[in-house]
Amino acid sequence: MKLSRKIRKLTQPVTYRRAWRRTQRAIFPLPLQPLLASVDQQRLREIQQRYASSPVEYAKYANVERWLPMNRERVQDLKLHRSAPKRVLDLGCGGGFFLFILKRLGHSVLGLDVDQFPLFAELLDLFDVRGVVWRIKAFEPLPNLGEKFDWITAFSINFNLHYPGERLWGPAEWDSFLRDLQRHLAPSGRIFFALNPTFGRDYYTPELRDFFLSRGASVERERIFFRKGLRF
Ligand SMILES: C[S@@+](CC[C@H](N)C(=O)[O-])C[C@H]1O[C@@H](n2cnc3c(N)ncnc32)[C@H](O)[C@@H]1O
Repeated sequence: MKLSRKIRKLTQPVTYRRAWRRTQRAIFPLPLQPLLASVDQQRLREIQQRYASSPVEYAKYANVERWLPMNRERVQDLKLHRSAPKRVLDLGCGGGFFLFILKRLGHSVLGLDVDQFPLFAELLDLFDVRGVVWRIKAFEPLPNLGEKFDWITAFSINFNLHYPGERLWGPAEWDSFLRDLQRHLAPSGRIFFALNPTFGRDYYTPELRDFFLSRGASVERERIFFRKGLRF
């Protein structure tokens, strides 16, 4: 890395926030081995063999050993391995890695995803994580989920796209979505999104960033955190 770039990084607050998160992960570790040992290994290998030669991009999620460490970091960064049991809803949960870890830690979890690629349902079943099949669409409310949640999360999301055209949601779509999520949030509930830099574009426009801030979020690159709930 060029010296000028290194110096520029040192002037950015995000550099120190990331370093602090790394430090905290080291101070409060979350060993994965006991969690992984609780999974039916024979069934896992059988799933992995079946998807080993799949050309579908999502087949990469069969590599549980690769995705669990990343999801451990998510759990650690939200301090959910140091928290009393919470009810957690994860939107676009995929194979349910994040929820699997949370469930083993004693949290009550629910995943929501489209029923598009069978691997996800197989992994959710393997991990014993409850899932709701639902396609999130702009301006359409989520179904009745039968309970309220202390946390609503979504990682590497791509439900915030209009098809066809792949136009990203703007403030109007997000406002409608957040108002709907409020119905599912328990008092003092929190919402955390990790956005995807979709199709080579940025995470958000300046207008959308301002919108998230106006609704009470802290915004750090892809991390949109409504730590104190939503502000309307
Ligand atoms: C990039 S993957 C991320 C999966 C998981 N959150 C993770 O980080 O490992 C995006 C996920 O969002 C789901 N998804 C995409 N569009 C969706 C929609 N409209 N409603 C619900 N889920 C959706 C996909 O099926 C997929 O599981």
